[in-house]
Amino acid sequence: MSDTIVIQTTDDGVPTLYLPGLDEHYHSTKGALTEARHVYIDMALRARDKRNIDLLEVGFGTGLNAWLTLLEAQERGLHIRYTAFELYPLDPEVADRLDYPARIAPQQSPAFARLHRCEWDHPVEIAPNFTLLKRHADLTRTPVDGLYDVVYFDAFAPEKQPEMWSESIFRTLYDHLAPGGILTTYCAKGEIRRRLQSIGFTVERLPGPPHGKREILRASKPNGPTHK
Ligand SMILES: C[S@@+](CC[C@H](N)C(=O)[O-])C[C@H]1O[C@@H](n2cnc3c(N)ncnc32)[C@H](O)[C@@H]1O
Repeated sequence: MSDTIVIQTTDDGVPTLYLPGLDEHYHSTKGALTEARHVYIDMALRARDKRNIDLLEVGFGTGLNAWLTLLEAQERGLHIRYTAFELYPLDPEVADRLDYPARIAPQQSPAFARLHRCEWDHPVEIAPNFTLLKRHADLTRTPVDGLYDVVYFDAFAPEKQPEMWSESIFRTLYDHLAPGGILTTYCAKGEIRRRLQSIGFTVERLPGPPHGKREILRASKPNGPTHK
């Protein structure tokens, strides 16, 4: 992965990171906050409609998804156990330079700082209703533990990191989703949709974020017994 990193403002005024070496952004250039809220908070977390949620994120990155989840938990009285894989942790000072708290929820600035500065590979209580386990590990080589209600699948694009979108990774995630569990991703490619279906997920193509991608994917694990 490239070690040069650039901060770029996206169309909703909220910045993201760009890796010139990979030619890849951490969020949509059409709107980082708009995308994160739509794909992960609205289409996954709210859709699961439970008060106690075990959540797995693929790619912790800037911590934007994690922090928006914490804000949602505070607002709706949810209890979240959040596990995130990240192979290339960001320097917390780079995360600070994105200035997310000032732009989104200044009163929750200390929580954003804690997300980045807390220890890796140990569960840490960031807030009374939000525990974070950051796993500094390569998802393609590390077993996944636990059973999750929601998966935020936020890897770099399949053209850039095909190994993250493999059948074996999706099968592992399927096995670690609770019945009725939900996985969302910003990527709506037919090839990815068919791969998810072939494993046993029920897959919906949903409208993408306003002004962003036309569609996104939501994959659910059926409640009853499955045969794939
Ligand atoms: C699209 S970005 C994630 C954005 C992030 N969810 C956010 O809110 O900022 C993809 C992330 O996956 C991480 N990543 C790349 N390869 C990985 C691997 N093999 N295992 C775990 N994480 C990986 C990258 O370092 C990057 O942070």
